[in-house]
Amino acid sequence: MDTRTAPAARAIDPDLARALVDVVGGPHLLTEPDVVASYSLDWTGRFRGSTPAVVRPGSAAEVAEVVALCRRHGTAIVPQGGNTGMVGGGVPLHGELVMSLRRLDLAGPVDGSTGQLSAQAGVTLAAVQSAARDAGWIYGVDLGGRDSATIGGNVATNAGGLRVVRYGDTRAQLLGAEAVLGSGAVVSHLGGLLKDNTGYALHSLLCGSEGTLGVVTAVRLRLVPPAPSRVAAMLGMRDASAAVAAAQALRRTLPSLSAVELMVRAGIELVCTVTGAPPPLPDPHEAYLLVEASGATDPTPELSAAVASLSGVQDAAVALEPARIAALFRYREAHTEAINSLGSPHKLDVTLPNAVLADMVGRFAGIVSAVAPEASVWLFGHVGDGNVHVNVTGVAPDDDRVDDAVLRAVADVGGSISAEHGIGTAKRRWLGLNRSPTELQAFAAIKRALDPDGIMNPHVMLTPA
Ligand code: FAD
Ligand code: MLT
Ligand code: ZN
Repeated sequence: MDTRTAPAARAIDPDLARALVDVVGGPHLLTEPDVVASYSLDWTGRFRGSTPAVVRPGSAAEVAEVVALCRRHGTAIVPQGGNTGMVGGGVPLHGELVMSLRRLDLAGPVDGSTGQLSAQAGVTLAAVQSAARDAGWIYGVDLGGRDSATIGGNVATNAGGLRVVRYGDTRAQLLGAEAVLGSGAVVSHLGGLLKDNTGYALHSLLCGSEGTLGVVTAVRLRLVPPAPSRVAAMLGMRDASAAVAAAQALRRTLPSLSAVELMVRAGIELVCTVTGAPPPLPDPHEAYLLVEASGATDPTPELSAAVASLSGVQDAAVALEPARIAALFRYREAHTEAINSLGSPHKLDVTLPNAVLADMVGRFAGIVSAVAPEASVWLFGHVGDGNVHVNVTGVAPDDDRVDDAVLRAVADVGGSISAEHGIGTAKRRWLGLNRSPTELQAFAAIKRALDPDGIMNPHVMLTPA
């Protein structure tokens, strides 16, 4: 696969290697080139780095010792969870040491009276969801990478996903965190008080910091009561504009709305070709809206009434049983792997203001073809949040013209160049489109305060000092 590659990493300093082995044990300092290679390539295949070693601490105390050692040796660290990130932030593109958090995998127990859960950073999102479910609660964040993505990675990226429209993003679930800052200081605030205005909310700051301030080692999460009655509908829409208008209307008219996702004809056809699934509806439609409603009582009548009042709906398939609902969601979730099968995509994850959302969805193909006529554009996303995933294939990994054109167009209309995936290395160049020089200076000051030697993910989000 053609990837944006980095130069080979230098070998690890033998003194540092010995000291790291003393902390984590020989089996947890990986240096075999074949083994570390899998930690150096990102999920999209667009970003391939190289690293002298992967260190796998087994406790927060070991994380703290590793950070202290790296600080002493002036060695940069890339924290890594499930390596499902989309912006090249979790792979060593400048020869950094990789710190894998996957061994920190203890979850729970759930505090049933408050509806809260503590989990170590390396617990997968799926394991958090299942611990919550087993205790009669649910965790509000869900996304297609759930089986590999870790809760530490979700916090580091402030992951969004399929149910932000109902429950909010990861930051909205986060009541506290434990972390080892780049300075080596360990901060821990895991008490889980629902109201707690005692100074700066460090956990909120760490959420979305993409490993640039420190390593998240544990989190305290808010759970929500289950919504056992669920119904989903795949709506065949006249066009993307009608789908966007319908999604916006459903947020007002359907209180039990728990997901509303946009797809278009080309994406659905690609998914069907790659996965072998039959078309979701008998005839093709220019756009599709996947709508889910859920609650304590059957939301089907409410969903039917809300859908009946929409314009542009040409057909609908309704699912009531969990397996059928999952099958409808598969059309949406499979977009990521289906697009990857065409080669490493440029993943431009943006949010648009409501007023220009429909217009921009219609403009993306033209914006891309003006700079890369050979490219293909794939549109889908969490349209209830104004979040569109503009994926582009057929462009070389290091050809940034498409990224530049799309991100500038989005910023020009007041949108965000990163809705939920983060800035990483992929979008660092464009952060100034959304953030003023004064804000960037404040970011740099925070970085210097918490990571004075700049060892934490120094090439991600901010330009190194
Ligand atoms: P990684 O990829 O390992 O790392 C991501 C970033 O976080 C890096 O900058 C890394 O340095 C940092 N990091 C990781 N762990 C820590 C830690 N413990 N402490 C400090 N920094 C850390 N994302 C969404 O927001 N919404 C979606 O709907 C969504 N769907 C996806 C579907 C699929 C099929 C896939 C493959 C990915 C999807 N993603 C989605 C992207 C990805 O899953 C999220 O960004 C996720 O939060 C990354 O978690 P991770 O453990 O894999 O992190
Ligand atoms: C999604 O919504 O499917 C994810 O954010 C992943 C992607 O953008 O491919
Ligand atoms: Zn997404």
